[in-house]
Amino acid sequence: MKYVLEIDNVSKFFHGLVAIDDLTIKVKPGQIYGIIGPNGAGKTTLFNCVTGIYTPEQGTIKYKGEDITGMQPHKIAQKGVLRTFQNIRLFSDMSVAENIMAGYHTKSKQKWYHAIFHTPAYKKDEKAAWKKVEELMEFFNLTHLATNPTGDLSYGNQRKVEMARALAANPELLILDEPAAGLNENETIELTEIIRKISQMDIGIMMIEHDMEMVMSLTDYITVINFGKEISQGEPNFVQNDPRVIEAYIGSDDDEEDE
Ligand SMILES: Nc1ncnc2c1ncn2[C@@H]1O[C@H](COP(=O)(O)OP(=O)(O)OP(=O)(O)O)[C@@H](O)[C@H]1O
Ligand SMILES: [Mg+2]
Repeated sequence: MKYVLEIDNVSKFFHGLVAIDDLTIKVKPGQIYGIIGPNGAGKTTLFNCVTGIYTPEQGTIKYKGEDITGMQPHKIAQKGVLRTFQNIRLFSDMSVAENIMAGYHTKSKQKWYHAIFHTPAYKKDEKAAWKKVEELMEFFNLTHLATNPTGDLSYGNQRKVEMARALAANPELLILDEPAAGLNENETIELTEIIRKISQMDIGIMMIEHDMEMVMSLTDYITVINFGKEISQGEPNFVQNDPRVIEAYIGSDDDEEDE
């Protein structure tokens, strides 16, 4: 399999507004693909098209070669496309372990009657589920918080729980919408390492991020979007020095660099 995700000539309109304009993006297994661009550029809308929240008006989206354009979000998740959200979405009254467990059940093949009658298949799956949750808590350094409600956690830990929940469903494509937003420097460094390790498991990662230091050090390839359109595509070094990118950022409020 050459690409885990193929976005071909995708466009999305909202009442005449062009939110996504003819984007083509291909993500390989194990690749970390960055999507950057000023506020309102269409980045989250693109992710919403890939995860089935929106159906694009034009173009096709393929996951592992299969056309998933317009498929329902839960179907796409079951196939192995999992995401986190720009505004964290967790069950805040539920514990860390329970939230991650919910992710496991995205893909679980259990039928309702297995749970009611506690069949051997159910018991076996529950055991496998707990093992997975324990492994993930270890991986994200969350074990000591296993029984805490996620609503009481720091922002950084909440972001990790959300990512762990996505991984519990065994994704082959992980979609992260601003994973470092609201994190302090140490939390950002920890998260960068975690994302790198996830990609080494051959999981394709597509991430939106405004933290340019993180993007430039972490991603293998980048598409820069402005007003829904691709303005540059290439390796971090290339897009960083692309005059079209510099111009787009200087013309917006996003740029916090003083050069
Ligand atoms: N459901 C919707 N209905 C109408 N317009 C929408 C909808 N969702 C997004 N838009 C518009 O589409 C454009 C792109 O929004 P989007 O959220 O994708 O930007 P973004 O690049 O993720 O920005 P940010 O960096 O601020 O998160 C914006 O003009 C936004 O107002
Ligand atoms: Mg967004």
